[in-house]
Amino acid sequence: MNILHLSAECYPVAKAGGLGDVVGALPKYQVGLGVQAMVAMPFYDRKFSQSHQFETVYQASSKLGYRSFDFQVLKEQNNTLGFELYLVKIPELLDRPEIYSYPDETEQFVAFQLAVLDWIIATGKKIDVFHCHDHHTGLVPFLIKYSNKYLALAQTPSVFTIHNGEYQGWMGWEKFHYLPEVSAESGGVLEWNNCINPLAAAIKCCWKYTTVSPSYLEEIKHHAHGLEFLFEIEQGKGQGILNGIDVEVWNPATDPMLTHHYQRTNVNEAKAVNKAAVCERFNLDPSKPLFTFIGRLVIEKGADMLVELVREVFLRHQSELNFLILGSGEKAIEMSLEEVQRYLRNFNCFIGYDEALSHQIYGSADFILMPSRVEPCGLNQLYSLRYGTVPIVRSTGGLKDTVIDIGESNGYGIRFDNLDTMEMVHAIDRAMHLYNDSKKLNQVRKRMMELDFSWNKSAAAYIELYNSLK
Ligand code: ADP
Ligand code: GLC
Repeated sequence: MNILHLSAECYPVAKAGGLGDVVGALPKYQVGLGVQAMVAMPFYDRKFSQSHQFETVYQASSKLGYRSFDFQVLKEQNNTLGFELYLVKIPELLDRPEIYSYPDETEQFVAFQLAVLDWIIATGKKIDVFHCHDHHTGLVPFLIKYSNKYLALAQTPSVFTIHNGEYQGWMGWEKFHYLPEVSAESGGVLEWNNCINPLAAAIKCCWKYTTVSPSYLEEIKHHAHGLEFLFEIEQGKGQGILNGIDVEVWNPATDPMLTHHYQRTNVNEAKAVNKAAVCERFNLDPSKPLFTFIGRLVIEKGADMLVELVREVFLRHQSELNFLILGSGEKAIEMSLEEVQRYLRNFNCFIGYDEALSHQIYGSADFILMPSRVEPCGLNQLYSLRYGTVPIVRSTGGLKDTVIDIGESNGYGIRFDNLDTMEMVHAIDRAMHLYNDSKKLNQVRKRMMELDFSWNKSAAAYIELYNSLK
């Protein structure tokens, strides 16, 4: 079975968040299960594409409305990722360093999708399922169903995975002419709230859609940034499949980004050594527990609550703990964190994106805080569990599906329900209590490091889903 994953991100080629991690790992695990999984993504001008070898497997010109563009499809030659990787290079449009945030993002991703379909049609490459990820690839299920140009693909099943329903890829109707001629029955399919909405179009046209956790599948029926009604109508097509993690990349016993390697048996000693290194770099106190937050500094992640929380926690616990934040996102949040950093001892933040530092923090922190308002799955808590870092999470989406509170039998995390500063302070009090009970902390660390959140199970669930579409 040939599965083509389409995505804007894929680790280590290009990653901005969890989407990259998923698309870098799921196909590898699927190949391990005997499926020919491949990835097609844009070519960005980044380290991976500069340092790997590619062969051109197709080149042509296509049209984005009145504008013509040339493109090449490059295949990575040595299969270094464990699956076939195809990069679509569109000079002047996609061949840039950043993944997102350009003013012509719509044009970039529409052109990418058209180029992929042109390539598949022209070469007759056999694809049994198109597996599209997030709105950047959401027009594909629509185009193969309704476009005359891609009629030969109309019977090919498409699966669409929603990693985050907040981002929908809206575009104005003046851009409709970017798309090739579509059949008359397609009327209204692209539409949601007077815009072209690629996420909504994907939900309507795909054969099956998945969310990255079962709880998020339920939640989007009630909170989906305007798409609630659509999810209600289409709920029969939806399935929640929990993300996994790549346990080869995320392995504290071998992780090349860690100062000190470890496993269950020496977690306490090794984490202390890693913590000493991180504390030295960030001017923190290694004899105190280290709390962290890693992630996008956006409202959805609850990052706007951090400053008030940190102030309250330090007031209460004075200098009994450290807090280290790694993230980037909304400028107002970044600036308020930097402001706090100026006067609070044992608090520090690194504003920016740093893959190696994230591994070092997972490998050294005692607790990770995830106060997410919405969390479709969340990978940070899964990495933390593998690295013996106790997650403190709000009970929502994938966090609810993966973290059991220490108050329950076999629990290994701390959960709270409401995004309220005092509730979070209480959760941190519980964490301090756990930290001071070294026997229990030890038990909890060992318990969580025994858990298996690898992709094996969920990669198989996706394959079962593809098979059901035959
Ligand atoms: P999301 O995809 O919504 O951002 P996830 O929890 O699914 O959230 O995944 C986030 C991924 O991005 C994790 O691999 C996390 O370690 C990583 N990450 C987030 N912010 C940063 C950062 N500033 N530096 C390094 N890695 C980061
Ligand atoms: C999204 C979600 C996150 C999820 C990730 C990978 O970015 O916000 O919760 O883990 O995608 O599926």
